[in-house]
Amino acid sequence: MKDAKGKLGVLVIGVGGAVATTFIAGTMLTRKGLGIPVGSITQLATMHLGKSDENRFPKIKEVVPLADLKDLVFGGWDIFEEDAYAAARHAEVLTVEDLDKVKDELQAIKPMKAVFDQNFVKRLHGTWVKVAPTKWDLKEAVRKDIQEFKAKHNLDRVVCIWCGSTEVFTKISAVHETLPALQKAMQENSPEIAPSMIYAYAALEEGIPYINGAPNLTVDMPAIWDLAAEKQVPICGKDFKTGQTMLKTVLSPMLKTRMLGLKGWFSTNILGNRDGEVLDDPGSFKTKEESKLSVIDNILQPSLYPELYENIYHKVCINYYPPSKDNKESWDNIDIFGWLGYPMQLKVNFLCRDSILAAPLCLDLVLFIDLAKRAGFSGIQSWLSFYFKSPMHDYEHIAEHDLFIQSANLKNTLRHLVYPVYLADRP
Ligand SMILES: NC(=O)c1ccc[n+]([C@@H]2O[C@H](COP(=O)([O-])OP(=O)(O)OC[C@H]3O[C@@H](n4cnc5c(N)ncnc54)[C@H](O)[C@@H]3O)[C@@H](O)[C@H]2O)c1
Repeated sequence: MKDAKGKLGVLVIGVGGAVATTFIAGTMLTRKGLGIPVGSITQLATMHLGKSDENRFPKIKEVVPLADLKDLVFGGWDIFEEDAYAAARHAEVLTVEDLDKVKDELQAIKPMKAVFDQNFVKRLHGTWVKVAPTKWDLKEAVRKDIQEFKAKHNLDRVVCIWCGSTEVFTKISAVHETLPALQKAMQENSPEIAPSMIYAYAALEEGIPYINGAPNLTVDMPAIWDLAAEKQVPICGKDFKTGQTMLKTVLSPMLKTRMLGLKGWFSTNILGNRDGEVLDDPGSFKTKEESKLSVIDNILQPSLYPELYENIYHKVCINYYPPSKDNKESWDNIDIFGWLGYPMQLKVNFLCRDSILAAPLCLDLVLFIDLAKRAGFSGIQSWLSFYFKSPMHDYEHIAEHDLFIQSANLKNTLRHLVYPVYLADRP
């Protein structure tokens, strides 16, 4: 495996958003020793090495060759011109006191002009956007941005992460099935090509791994899988698994493991940030809804256990409520049943902070996908399913949603990578 020496560029799409600025500012505070990266597996978690009688639990970052936080250089695109400090102040997630400790570094991050199409995000009116005759030309402009960013900061490697708004629901169609069809569609300005696909295409052509933090189709299509294989680039997505869905992927396995039944699951949320405003549009909400709904059926396997999980009523709502800002509140009413079918209920009320939960996932994904690239992995990285609501998979595989199985898969992959080194070190 190539080592992690040199600078790693992190290009964030939606660099002025709540998640992006919380991730970037938090990483800057952490590397200055001014914050604890709570929630980050790469920074805090351990893993077991050796046989079951060996009491060896090193920190992951001590044994896995990950990039050092000091080597990360941030940049990105947004549809608004304000720098990352001003954007973070607007997002109102971190305190002014915290942001001021890294003010200069944040102010130095000035977004590049975005690829934007209002048909895909109805509630936003971008003012800092690229203009070009075709979507193919826009892709070329993004490639140029990447090349200039790399040269300007003397970077060894770059990764790309989508923290942009959720785009309207796009069904997979013929233009997404093959690479020639996708290329033709970009040249002909097809309405089925979303901005996120243009960034992803540009990144992969530049040999840069791509992480999709939103439920958009983006890299979840055969044409892009082919491009990733051709360019030998890792990709992963979709939709960060943070609050309510994280709980679902812990509670559902509990029910199944104990062979307890489920009749219905009603989930609702109130959310007041810009993400909440975008999701207030039915088109964007539909994309999110699809991502949130798939989880329970996949874990409970109703076809194997019809007496427990047939005809579950599963409903998800998101309500935009500005006073809540980034503090999302979710309620879950879960109707379960036990011995002889007797009914019981679970009520869960999670008062979370959306971007505080998402920021550590961004950091881990950036470091892990860079590791994947150096290890020679390419295509869909299913070992990173742990981080996603709707883990990507090709037509031959199924997604794994259970958080603890996902965690085991992630750590097993890391073990597989470090074992040759570990074994060589043993007396
Ligand atoms: N916070 C969470 O817990 C969480 C969980 C899962 C997924 N997500 C997803 O992460 C994304 C970011 O969430 P957020 O709360 O930071 O939202 P946000 O609205 O604060 O940030 C999104 C940013 O993307 C920018 N943007 C929109 N379209 C763009 C384009 N085409 N190019 C460049 N920039 C563009 C917007 O201007 C904005 O600055 C959303 O898609 C959200 O659904 C968030």
